[in-house]
Amino acid sequence: MRIDIISCVPQLVESPLSHSILKRAQAFGLLEVHIHDLRDYTPYNHRQVDDYPFGGGAGMVLMIEPIARCIRSLQSERTYDEVIYLTPDGETFNQKTANRLSLTQNLILLAGHYKGIDQRVRDLFITKEISIGDYVLSGGELPALVLVDAIGRIIPGVLSDETSALFDSFQDNLLDAPVYTRPAEWEGHKVPEILTSGHAAKISAWLEEQSLKKTRERRPDLLKDWE
Ligand code: ADE
Repeated sequence: MRIDIISCVPQLVESPLSHSILKRAQAFGLLEVHIHDLRDYTPYNHRQVDDYPFGGGAGMVLMIEPIARCIRSLQSERTYDEVIYLTPDGETFNQKTANRLSLTQNLILLAGHYKGIDQRVRDLFITKEISIGDYVLSGGELPALVLVDAIGRIIPGVLSDETSALFDSFQDNLLDAPVYTRPAEWEGHKVPEILTSGHAAKISAWLEEQSLKKTRERRPDLLKDWE
């Protein structure tokens, strides 16, 4: 799978891609992430990519020309399944969307900055608009990374234990059961006995019961779908 990230602050997205799971995914050839500096595509002087909004108001708006040049140059090389714009007024990202996007071949993620992007970019080039939650960040770079991480880690073969992503919180609309590791007793605090019993069927029943309990307490809204 290939993901192209377009940003006017590419430095913001570089480092997280070079570590841990996303590094592994790329090293295994399962995920290719390419970062494009919008300023490399602008025809304007001083590498300008933004301008004042028509009609006035605070903040700058990313111009259509550099974005169009960048997207068109990528689209001339391959077909993209989606051209996604990260924006607080997009559809809220969730596990279902991550799962669906992980099955695609090529994605473009456009990170906005300042006040936003010229509406004509959204009308003419964007196929999907995604928000990572009801709060406003200073740009779309961190949201783009959230998508790359959520999508990248569920590509088959990326996690060493291939099944582990399937048991994540949200994969079955239930929150995770608590987890423990050695020592079995720490300063008098013991691990639930069942987990060290070696009784596989009882352990899995206990884990499901714990998942349900936590979900009922913290996210009863998820249970509507589960039941
Ligand atoms: N850009 C700024 N805030 C955002 C958010 N919450 N989700 C996606 N993109 C954004």
